Amino acid sequence: MKYRLILALLAVTATVSWAQTAGKVTLDGMINEGEYKTVEVKNEFTIAARLSDDKSTLQVAIKGPTTGWMAIGIGTLKMNGSFMILGYVADGKPSVSYELGKGYSHAPTPAPGASAFVSETDGVTTLEVSLPALSYVKDGVLQVIGASGPKDDFKSKHTRRTALELKL
Ligand code: HEM
Repeated sequence: MKYRLILALLAVTATVSWAQTAGKVTLDGMINEGEYKTVEVKNEFTIAARLSDDKSTLQVAIKGPTTGWMAIGIGTLKMNGSFMILGYVADGKPSVSYELGKGYSHAPTPAPGASAFVSETDGVTTLEVSLPALSYVKDGVLQVIGASGPKDDFKSKHTRRTALELKL
């Protein structure tokens, strides 16, 4: 009887701790199993997103084969008007820039409340971002663009790009 009670208590504790960690995003440069609600693979990019339970915070991530820059843009399927986050690692030093797409260009823009982490391992660069959700998600759908280039900068054009809709 005593053992059954102990077992039941252990089961409850395990469930509570699973519920607390499952789906929690950590900005550590890794897209881990169960971390994001939606994960899609397209054009050699892995793109992931999750909306916090209270829908106030949006977390997005992109990973792909490059030793140069990696970027994710949200809010539209085009460069124009997209809120973009670009990142690269040069000589072990990470750099991130928040930009607004304008035509086929982009320029730095304020990003209050946003934070990002970029990492590069074995020729793969991963960028993870957390930001206020604002109105980026419409009817449960997030429009996302992704791109990467071989240089460590925020100016050069992509050699790979994609656009897709994620259901959150
Ligand atoms: C200065 C840097 C950039 C330049 C010069 C540039 C240039 C261009 C050009 C000329 C096109 C037309 C089609 C083509 O030639 O491929 C294009 C399309 C595209 N780019 Fe960029 N791009 C830049 C950065 C970015 C970034 C940072 C992203 C992602 C966050 C991105 C995502 C896309 C996508 C998804 C398309 C196809 C959709 C569209 O027409 O807007 N680009 N880009």
